Amino acid sequence: MTDLARARGVPAGKYVEGLGVSRMAVADAHEDAVALAANASRRLFATAGVEASSIGLCVAGTETGVDHSKPIAAYLHRLLGLPQRCRVYETKHACFGGTAALLGAIDWIAAGSNRGRSALIVCTDIARYALNSPGEPTQGAGAVALLVTENPRLLAFEPGISGSYARDVDDFWRPLYPKVAVVDGHRSVQCYLDALAGAYDAYCEAATLAGYDARTLARRCYHVPYGKMAKKAHRHLKQREGLSEAEADASYEVEVASSLVLPSQVGNVYTGSLYLALASLLDAEAEAIEGERVGLFSYGSGCCAEYFAGRVEKGAGEWVRRLALAQPLAERRTYSIEEYEAIRAADDAVDQAPVHTLNGHSPAGMIAFVGVDNQRRVYE
Ligand code: CAA
Repeated sequence: MTDLARARGVPAGKYVEGLGVSRMAVADAHEDAVALAANASRRLFATAGVEASSIGLCVAGTETGVDHSKPIAAYLHRLLGLPQRCRVYETKHACFGGTAALLGAIDWIAAGSNRGRSALIVCTDIARYALNSPGEPTQGAGAVALLVTENPRLLAFEPGISGSYARDVDDFWRPLYPKVAVVDGHRSVQCYLDALAGAYDAYCEAATLAGYDARTLARRCYHVPYGKMAKKAHRHLKQREGLSEAEADASYEVEVASSLVLPSQVGNVYTGSLYLALASLLDAEAEAIEGERVGLFSYGSGCCAEYFAGRVEKGAGEWVRRLALAQPLAERRTYSIEEYEAIRAADDAVDQAPVHTLNGHSPAGMIAFVGVDNQRRVYE
């Protein structure tokens, strides 16, 4: 981000301290939303020892779909070797799409429709704004794969105890053809805060009915378009509860800061941002907070939001070490600003490139998008 700031003639402090982002993930031509989702899922299967045959539901939440009709989950079905008796589809609502999929999976299990099987929920996105625009430093790319089972090892959700909020607003959207989003940046921040207040109030009522006080949440993860937004969000909630700004910021250090370490290295991954924050929290603190509840806030522009919570399971600390959640970030390489701009300049041509004509970097052992054959996207 320091390099990008220099290239844009902006003080680096604006990106690093002002927005809270130190690195930004950039997807190359081989890494579309399908490839990102497939690679995240394969890593999950390998590290958690998941058999593809145990999956009965596979949903990809995304804002970066590759087709108006065929869902990413259909590609995943073949790339992951999922069983034929499996429901596959895609969910869209800006950054909320992954949460919509996750809440559906929780209900699928709570209703008993899973009959012992698990759900694979993958949040996959490439966040793109126009070069040189205020949104540019808040881009990112990545996928988070979540295994939802009857016997969770990390976090146990509480079906029914959650708060929703929706409203028709034009804060961020992406018309049918451009790859870059349109955004009313400062308005989007206010829409996020309004949705947070609305969803949180609804959640508090549900928690009270369930017999606990939402103020006992030990940690809180927020949707993270950039780290500073999560800080603003936490301050907003705490000030509504009567804390001073200094008290709210002190509670941020305890309840939120560890969830922003991985997001600050990646940027916005839209649907996956909340779950990257959760991964960051668990990676840093799972053992210390076993048995405690973590609050989760998901926001999708347009808008829909949900506040819900999960309880950290006993043994989560040991399990997190096995998953090595931060490892993928160590496998990246640095792009120069010129390479990043060349990737962006080719963005529109990529989807028409004949097979094996794409420039880019495709590491061995990873699933890659390799071009188009007779209007069909090809993955190897
Ligand atoms: N050193 C340190 N800090 C500095 C600084 C410097 N030299 N210069 C500026 N700053 C600080 C500012 O004070 C400001 O901090 P506060 O917000 O605490 O006041 C911060 O850096 C950002 O500065 P600006 O507000 O001037 O930045 P901007 O107008 O250029 O753009 C933005 C900010 C509107 C968030 C823009 O990046 C944007 O449009 N991003 C995309 C939209 C977005 O992410 N919205 C979030 C809510 S919507 C959502 O969450 C859905 C989603 O994923 C998209």
